[in-house]
Amino acid sequence: MDKAKFLVSGKEYEFPLLNGTENEVAVDIRKLRESTGLITYDPGYGNTGSCRSAITFIDGDNGILRYRGYPIEELAGQIRFSAAAYLMVYGRLPSESEFLEWRKQLTLNSFVHASQVNFFDNYSALAHPMNILSSMVSSMSAFYPYDAEDESDIDLHIRRLIGQVKTIAAFSYRKSVGLPYIYPRTDHSYAANFLRMMFATPAEEYVVPKVMENALDMLLILHMDHEQNCSTSTVRMVASSMSNIYASVSAGISALWGRLHGGANEAVLNMLQRISEDGGNVSKYVELAKKKDDPFRLMGFGHRVYKNFDPRSRILKKAVDDVFNEMGIHDPLLGVARELEDVALKDDFFIQRKLYPNVDFYSGILYRALGIPTEMFTVLFAIGRMPGWIAHWLEMRADPDLRIQRPRQIYIGETKRHYEKNDTFL
Ligand code: SDX
Repeated sequence: MDKAKFLVSGKEYEFPLLNGTENEVAVDIRKLRESTGLITYDPGYGNTGSCRSAITFIDGDNGILRYRGYPIEELAGQIRFSAAAYLMVYGRLPSESEFLEWRKQLTLNSFVHASQVNFFDNYSALAHPMNILSSMVSSMSAFYPYDAEDESDIDLHIRRLIGQVKTIAAFSYRKSVGLPYIYPRTDHSYAANFLRMMFATPAEEYVVPKVMENALDMLLILHMDHEQNCSTSTVRMVASSMSNIYASVSAGISALWGRLHGGANEAVLNMLQRISEDGGNVSKYVELAKKKDDPFRLMGFGHRVYKNFDPRSRILKKAVDDVFNEMGIHDPLLGVARELEDVALKDDFFIQRKLYPNVDFYSGILYRALGIPTEMFTVLFAIGRMPGWIAHWLEMRADPDLRIQRPRQIYIGETKRHYEKNDTFL
């Protein structure tokens, strides 16, 4: 089958089909309005492909996630975040010399611009760290200006974004707790540098525990990309107008902040704490989540694409046990999470709607075990997602099909009416 046929007002129209390398099929409707006068209506774009992409493949029915063809299970916890970031951005794993140079450059370019550090001193003490992150990343284009018509040095800006996103995050935390800033070192991995910048004290050498470095590496890789999710689509939308990479990524950070998207990991922890403080009455909250007239939803559950287990939540569910055992810690919220998952997965409401735990359900418990404060969980999501946003920005800008993104609409407002002169408004 290479064409789709539509009958519109008795007339037959044919539209070509596009086939992906994993046998996905799309109807190419680029000529739809021109030939039929019709547009499509698809709020939330659940049935609409915005692009052709070679970065990430998801099979939501079978719980499959691959970055550049590699199954997530073969990357998360198996290689360093910086190596996976190179794969994500450039489409292949680096050679040994490329990797060592890339990792060194990520560190050397991870120092926030000296003038920009002052922002932290004058920012509102009430600011959420995602607010600070999106503002600081957007303002990077003021400290590292480049001509959007000549992006020949884009690799340098890419290293700055990946390198500095973790430094901005760590500095915002250090500022919030009144501690001096700690700077990154070239003899530390990306994850180790972040943990050291978060928790070291200048009074003595801080050795990052391997179990924490490895857990964070895995968490960052698990969050690295997820095809056309809300925040990545936002990056692409802004990039399509030829905005610079900092402005595009800053918009993605703002989209990620929402509790239906990246903000869900923070919301999951708050939900688990609410259930725990309410006597651990899990069934009460599963029932509440089913009520149409109540805004409460099981945070960390459900997904637009996965109608099976999110492979990332499977990996995280196992990793939590491993890390807790190795660190010798116990967190009562883990018990609440396990019971909540167990009750929900047996409940018809969730079974019928194919609602399973997603990446956010267990990630917060692991971040908490690493000592990350709850309000920084979504910032950690953004740090992991940075290489994915950059990869999509690059792919979009090189796409021969690139057009400024400008959806249509169905107008349902007032029909034409006339203004009757009123001197009040003069
Ligand atoms: C991420 O897109 C990505 O790839 C995102 C992400 C990534 O890596 O970038 O994977 C990261 O954002 C994961 C999702 C994190 N968000 C949450 O955990 C918030 C809780 N989940 C829901 O809000 C919801 O499941 C969404 C937002 C994730 C998906 O929303 P959809 O696809 O629009 O689904 P829907 O709201 O239309 O739900 C379908 C039905 C509805 O019931 P009915 O109207 O059919 O009776 O399922 C119900 C919903 O009410 N439902 C839930 C639910 N999620 C969906 N009911 C209770 N609890 C939930 N969590």
